[in-house]
Amino acid sequence: MKLTKVITSAALLGFAGAAQLAMAAEPIAPVEPVKEVNLAEAELGKKLYFDPRLSKSGFISCNSCHNLSMGGTDNLKTSIGHNWNQGPINAPTVLNSSMNVAQFWDGRAADLKEQAGGPIANPGEMAFTHVLAVDVLKSIPGYVREFKLVYGTDQISIDQVTTAIAEFEKTLVTPNSPFDLWLLGDKDAITADEKAGYELFKTSGCVACHNGQAVGGASFQKMGLVEAYQTKNKAEGLAGITGKDADRMKFKVPTLRNVEMTYPYFHDGEAQTLTEAVDIMGRLQLGRKFSDKENAQIVAFLKTLTGDQPTFNLPILPPSTDKTPVPKPFD
Ligand code: HEC
Ligand code: HEC
Repeated sequence: MKLTKVITSAALLGFAGAAQLAMAAEPIAPVEPVKEVNLAEAELGKKLYFDPRLSKSGFISCNSCHNLSMGGTDNLKTSIGHNWNQGPINAPTVLNSSMNVAQFWDGRAADLKEQAGGPIANPGEMAFTHVLAVDVLKSIPGYVREFKLVYGTDQISIDQVTTAIAEFEKTLVTPNSPFDLWLLGDKDAITADEKAGYELFKTSGCVACHNGQAVGGASFQKMGLVEAYQTKNKAEGLAGITGKDADRMKFKVPTLRNVEMTYPYFHDGEAQTLTEAVDIMGRLQLGRKFSDKENAQIVAFLKTLTGDQPTFNLPILPPSTDKTPVPKPFD
């Protein structure tokens, strides 16, 4: 589009329209507050998200590894599962995960509902079975009542469990970050250095992969495009699903929303700091070595992507009964 044309149409549209036009030209869009949530279902999903009784040990919940007090992650290199099992890969954040093109580093789950069934039955994570998880819930009258309220039936199924958790996860969006306020027209919402970092982020090519509302999450890309990535981690990315050699080391581009809170970085959790992660991205993905000043500016920009964290009352879980299967923390 020619500059004159932009100016004319901006003048025609008036101020609000002009702001929208300016925004449309940016490769990153503001996170929108959540709309269209089934409140009763999300409330039930929140309880299930926090309930460790969906694990064999009675100790591990979704929140153990995706701690909503810590940016939806565990801040560990790789997660700790049942029996202190050393997890194979870094836990991505659940914040804004509803925006992902698919779930998991290799995209093996199509959506949040499909994803939510995985950890419960994963022997290295919650180590339970879907049948046992449903048996536990059925033995707790408080849950039976709430499932009936939401789904209109006395039967509890794993399908309802994962649907409810996914509905809760839809509420875990983080609007109003300083960067979004800037995008929406508040010119003082970010500093000159942060702005300079954003310019570098655009001009050096980070936005080719990290773009859209989530600043990532939209595609699978090779880790180590220009220079190979050295890691002891065995994950092969998309190749593990497709079997294609060309897909080796292709991972879902992580969201950079709230990245200040979701350390350590990369699928192997090997980069402890943002400084390190930005340096590696520059060299391996773009063949560009940033100066200390440039690196610091990009890091400053990335920190403006921290939005309002989800706030809610801690769910109080209905108590177990004499009929509830007893947890087995040490088996
Ligand atoms: C023992 C730690 C652990 C527990 C418990 C756990 N997760 Fe995860 N979660 C992970 C790890 C590790 C990954 C990445 C696995 C992969 O990509 O192969 C992950 C991936 C995810 C993702 C995909 C995010 C993305 O960007 O791809 C979502 C969503 C998620 N978990 C939600 C849940 C929910 C809901 C529960 C509870 C039912 C749960 N997790 C329980 C560790 C855990
Ligand atoms: C060719 C696509 C591509 C480009 C260009 C790119 N990235 Fe990435 N980025 C990725 C992928 C893929 C990952 C995940 C790699 C992994 O975990 O092994 C990633 C991971 C990251 C992470 C870690 C996030 C986390 O939660 O683990 C940060 C930070 C990051 N990129 C910042 C940048 C910056 C800054 C630039 C520009 C200097 C950039 N990226 C350029 C694809 C890209």
